[in-house]
Amino acid sequence: MLDPGLNLPPPPAGLDFDDMLKRGMAQVLQRSDADQLMSYHIAGGSAVERAAGALWLRPMLPRLDPGHLLVCHGAQAALAALILTLSEPGEALAAEAALYPGMRRAATELGRRIVTVGGDADGMRPDLLEQACREGAVRAVYLNPTLQNPTGHTMPLARRRALLQVAARYAVPIIEDDPYWLLAADAPPPLAQLMPAQVCYVSTLSKCLSPGLRTAYVVLPTRFLRERFLTTVRAFSLMVPPLPTSLATHWINDGCAQQLLEGIRQETAARRALADTILARTRTGAQDGYHLWLPLPSYWSAQALAQAAQSQGTSVAAADRFYDAGTAPNAVRVSLGSIRARAQVAIALKKLALLLARRPAPSTPGGD
Ligand SMILES: Cc1ncc(COP(=O)(O)O)c(C=O)c1O
Repeated sequence: MLDPGLNLPPPPAGLDFDDMLKRGMAQVLQRSDADQLMSYHIAGGSAVERAAGALWLRPMLPRLDPGHLLVCHGAQAALAALILTLSEPGEALAAEAALYPGMRRAATELGRRIVTVGGDADGMRPDLLEQACREGAVRAVYLNPTLQNPTGHTMPLARRRALLQVAARYAVPIIEDDPYWLLAADAPPPLAQLMPAQVCYVSTLSKCLSPGLRTAYVVLPTRFLRERFLTTVRAFSLMVPPLPTSLATHWINDGCAQQLLEGIRQETAARRALADTILARTRTGAQDGYHLWLPLPSYWSAQALAQAAQSQGTSVAAADRFYDAGTAPNAVRVSLGSIRARAQVAIALKKLALLLARRPAPSTPGGD
């Protein structure tokens, strides 16, 4: 089943992930003792864990000072902690119209407002961000500029620079949520590389290795922010979970993480090739990553297609999951990663292609 709720990397091509996991855990257990693994640890990760994080982030942030890096138990927790660190209840965070639902959920639950800043084909428009900043309401800007979830859009370099300049002029920090950079074929440098002082950078291992590792790296530009962030994280979680984070550290240091990433890239490319063949006439958007963003013909509403897909044992995410009420385009996101067997992906994509090729059944609500 293509489950829109399960935004998972595909299983790595050419690797026995089960075996890699068992061997990795055995090595972690051999090298550490129970006291070490089953005790409390300092929030933000040990020096060894931070050094592994800096090594992993080297393609994105080659000049990173490991002292600026903190380890957190996933990007979702890091985003919630950053919202608390950077803003007060009732204040506003700027974001693009298409927004990772977890960010909207965290902001809403924490009593912050999301102000949508309009965009064009390159992403958020700098003039509109400037207008929002001038009106004085914005405490931070949230961006997911590389292989954006859900559209797969990657913001070009010039737009990154222009947005950074606006943010710097108004002293508004940018939260750069960057789970997919290592899956992009040719992405521009992260905002955090272009202007480190302006960016709070979050890079989770969930999408390029595995969500079960519950490990994200957070790079914050000032000691003040790092201390505030740690105080906030400690309020809802005392530390990163030692077992999965030890495994992530071990895999980064022994090269398994790189192999796993390669396997995920290969499987993603194979699945994209399948989608190119099967959905040739309908597919648009990004050329890499494991999400497809499909604008729909007018005779299908996103909700009707999602429902029809569901009734055939497959599923897609209607665009309204990612947009403010009433503003979503008529489109769906297809996740190519959550089905385990590649052959099943082909079957699910063929079902989707057949649905797209015909008009909705008259009884399907929402179709015209
Ligand atoms: C853009 C984005 N940010 C953050 C997350 C959450 O990542 P984590 O599993 O590390 O909490 C996701 C997961 O779907 C995501 O797509």
